[in-house]
Amino acid sequence: MSDVKTRRGRTRLLAILAVAAVAMLCIRWLRKEDASQGDAAVAEHEPAAAMDLVQRGEYLARIGNCISCHTRHGGEAFAGGMSFGAPYASLGTLYSTNITPDRTTGIGGWKEQQFVRAMHEGRAPDHGRLFPAFPYNYFSRVTDDDAKAIFAYLRTVKPVRYTPPANSAAFTLRSGMALWNASFFKEGRFNPDTTQSAEWNRGAYLVNGLGHCGACHTPRNVFLAEKADAALSGSTYPESAASGKRQNWAAVNLTSASSGLGAWTVDDIKKYLKTGHSRRAGIFGPMNEVIANSLQYLTDDDAKAMAVYLKSLPPLNESPDNAIDSGHVQAGAPVYAEHCEKCHMSSGRGAFLKAPPVAGSAVAQARDPATLITVILHGAKVGAGGPAPFGAWEDMPSFADKLTDDQTAAVSNYVRGTWGNRGGMVTAQEVKNQR
Ligand code: HEC
Ligand code: HEC
Ligand code: HEC
Repeated sequence: MSDVKTRRGRTRLLAILAVAAVAMLCIRWLRKEDASQGDAAVAEHEPAAAMDLVQRGEYLARIGNCISCHTRHGGEAFAGGMSFGAPYASLGTLYSTNITPDRTTGIGGWKEQQFVRAMHEGRAPDHGRLFPAFPYNYFSRVTDDDAKAIFAYLRTVKPVRYTPPANSAAFTLRSGMALWNASFFKEGRFNPDTTQSAEWNRGAYLVNGLGHCGACHTPRNVFLAEKADAALSGSTYPESAASGKRQNWAAVNLTSASSGLGAWTVDDIKKYLKTGHSRRAGIFGPMNEVIANSLQYLTDDDAKAMAVYLKSLPPLNESPDNAIDSGHVQAGAPVYAEHCEKCHMSSGRGAFLKAPPVAGSAVAQARDPATLITVILHGAKVGAGGPAPFGAWEDMPSFADKLTDDQTAAVSNYVRGTWGNRGGMVTAQEVKNQR
């Protein structure tokens, strides 16, 4: 008897695990199309308090970067149809929805309260639970007033009659999300920390709410849920190019670890977020779009508040598990001297109008070396998200044809283990994967 019960219990457990597995696999989305809006016009903004409701909603929608995910390549703004794939191709594709005010294909028929619920709980009136490719685990923290302002703004955008393609079968299993949500999603508004300044709280609200920085910068557990105790300490962001080729990026450690933003001042961070350029680094890769479509529109006060909050984060994930021995560090010295020194200098400190520092660089020391390797192999175009700001340096050239996998790994290890940098060992195989 008890044997049967155990077996039944086991079957039920297996069934639950299977549903959980499907839900889990659905969480890690890959952007398939290139959504770059290239909207580089720099808008002037009045201080937040002086804006009327719709203007405020527009500003907040920018910070949430709704347009990047809800506009397909070459499509009309907010009409949806951008494809997201799970890490396992067999699961197929999920498409973002039409959030224009068209009554039949968009959200024109939604009531304000239904929209607020979608933002806070990840539930839609017509099709139930939403997949967290829509970052409602962050948007849940947004105040009712801000969510309502975004709704008011979306009411004013051009209605577009467009139905995104049908989702693959795996993404019709919306009930599977119930289990994942029960385990990993905590609904609830932002809770101010009264021991901190108003500016810090504003920054925390934006970074962990609409800004959803952790969606890329926070590491995930085996269930692909973000690890709350390692928030913003760096992760891997898998991006799929329009060609279908998968390309990993390290979304760097944003805490004040020496391998994160430890070397950046509040002003460096503020400048980088608003312009894509600071003394410490310029933009390339996935941050291009985040800055071009979203962060460049921040008011000075909000950019500063985000920087103040980020700068206050205690160091996490500082040292690598796989430290590099001095032999492997030194093996890359000649490659650095021949190919890198003229811009980044022997001190690793870079030079004005030439290159940013690699000493203390978060990219150089990231746990996942993907971004470092990609920058060496493919170079970095300054101002790829718009016109290069004043004081920007020249482009970083591509070394894919000049360095072998071994040489690229060697110079990576040199950069990761010199000038006090602390990164883990890079192998030739890891270089090969990024080609
Ligand atoms: C990282 C990508 C991403 C961002 C950023 C994003 N969304 Fe979405 N959103 C999606 C995806 C994908 C879906 C579809 C989810 C599903 O079908 O389960 C979605 C669904 C929605 C829905 C449900 C619509 C419906 O018909 O069911 C609403 C409403 C919505 N998003 C509003 C917004 C707003 C407002 C913003 C900006 C504040 C925003 N989204 C930002 C990816 C995103
Ligand atoms: C779509 C994923 C994604 C989102 C969302 C995102 N980031 Fe990033 N971020 C990255 C990646 C990948 C890198 C490293 C490569 C690059 O610069 O593109 C990065 C780099 C950075 C850097 C360091 C640049 C350097 O070169 O050292 C900072 C600072 C940063 N992000 C801040 C933020 C903040 C603040 C937010 C939220 C407002 C945010 N990011 C949202 C993916 C993302
Ligand atoms: C012609 C000058 C030049 C040379 C040579 C050069 N770089 Fe760069 N490097 C740059 C510039 C400019 C950037 C910033 C690009 C941007 O942010 O848009 C950069 C960025 C970087 C970054 C990212 C820094 C950060 O924190 O965002 C790393 C790491 C790096 N280079 C390593 C190397 C290595 C290793 C070599 C040699 C194999 C090398 N570079 C050769 C100019 C150069």
